[in-house]
Amino acid sequence: MPDGLILGIETSCDETGSAVVRAGETILSNVVASQIATHQPYGGVVPELASREHLRAIVPVVRQALADAGTGYESLDAVAVTQGPGLVGALLVGVSFAKALAYALDKPLIAVNHLEGHIHAVLLERLRDNDRNLRFPVLALVVSGGHTHLYLAQRSEHSWTYRNIGHTRDDAAGEAFDKVAKLLGLGYPGGPIIDGLAAHGNPSAVKFPAAQLKNPDRNRARHMGGEGPRFDFSYSGIKTAVLRHVESHGLAPSIEARRRALSEIPLPAPADYLRLCDPPTLDLIASFQRSIVDDLTTRTLAAAREYDTPTLFVSGGVAANRELRAACERRGSEEGIEVFFPSRALSTDNAAMIAAAAYPKFLARDVLPLDFSVEPGLRLGAGTAS
Ligand code: KG4
Ligand code: ZN
Repeated sequence: MPDGLILGIETSCDETGSAVVRAGETILSNVVASQIATHQPYGGVVPELASREHLRAIVPVVRQALADAGTGYESLDAVAVTQGPGLVGALLVGVSFAKALAYALDKPLIAVNHLEGHIHAVLLERLRDNDRNLRFPVLALVVSGGHTHLYLAQRSEHSWTYRNIGHTRDDAAGEAFDKVAKLLGLGYPGGPIIDGLAAHGNPSAVKFPAAQLKNPDRNRARHMGGEGPRFDFSYSGIKTAVLRHVESHGLAPSIEARRRALSEIPLPAPADYLRLCDPPTLDLIASFQRSIVDDLTTRTLAAAREYDTPTLFVSGGVAANRELRAACERRGSEEGIEVFFPSRALSTDNAAMIAAAAYPKFLARDVLPLDFSVEPGLRLGAGTAS
């Protein structure tokens, strides 16, 4: 039996990633080329620029992943690549490269759903730490710049199945962090900047109303239809509430001054952001983060109670958020739920999670012929949302 040495490739958004992982649990290398500097002037990811940067980075990043792992192409047992969801042009770079590589090497090619990758980032580190006694079903919250999804995950032998029981009706939580940071004249991506600043403000200073879902009936109808209740999210309202607060408190001039000052610093450090935020702005930031964290945690734990899940995985870029980690751990332990996060490095997009998610498929010989295409709107498992 080969030992499952898998080369992972991830290009779904703005990070070019490649990694070598053995048997879904031992990371031999994990290289990520970030495009933050390219997209920063635009305050968000520009799809055309992302594709161009992936094209530039893919060859050196894959070579570096093999070199760091101390291995060559011939030792690999399979190549794994993100098929979707993501930006079409960005996905195409990774998938085309992976197909050519698999064809030239005559190795199996495994297509991985990016969201499943985020879930397996948590599993990878549990297995690495020799924690093999997970209690099922696992409730998985995938919370990133593009997604806020809740899944019920089950494992039987090598195969994992997923059922979507919640998703955002509008903005993803990470998108709200990014948009609010932009609105306040801070840079991109907003999540890490807001995370760093929130500790310096009063989280109770500004009250934001809880998110109101437009069609709460949808939950009840599905319940009656036998599918079980849904736990949807909504984050566009809080973004508008921050905008209203900015307008009604006359914050525009100080935001403009901050934007100008930051644009003159090539790579702003946390101390630069802090120096450029006055106490009312820090209070607004802390209150915004508290509101998002409370909402994510409350809805997720309500789902855990409803579906009686003993284990919660929280993954995706926003899972790097310190307040979210603390809140999920505290409230999870109050309810007897074991909560696991990936390390911060595996929370944001990377290819180790793609190689790890491919391992059960490798064991199950779930390999695609080389004519599969990218799926920008790829869904994960059953349920109504991608
Ligand atoms: O998973 P990811 O790298 O890419 C997507 O699949 O979207 O997530 C990126 C998102 C961005 O919106 C970023 O602002 C957010 O994750 N993020 C954070 C933190 N670190 C990254 N949000 C809150 N707190 C953080 N520490
Ligand atoms: Zn992601």
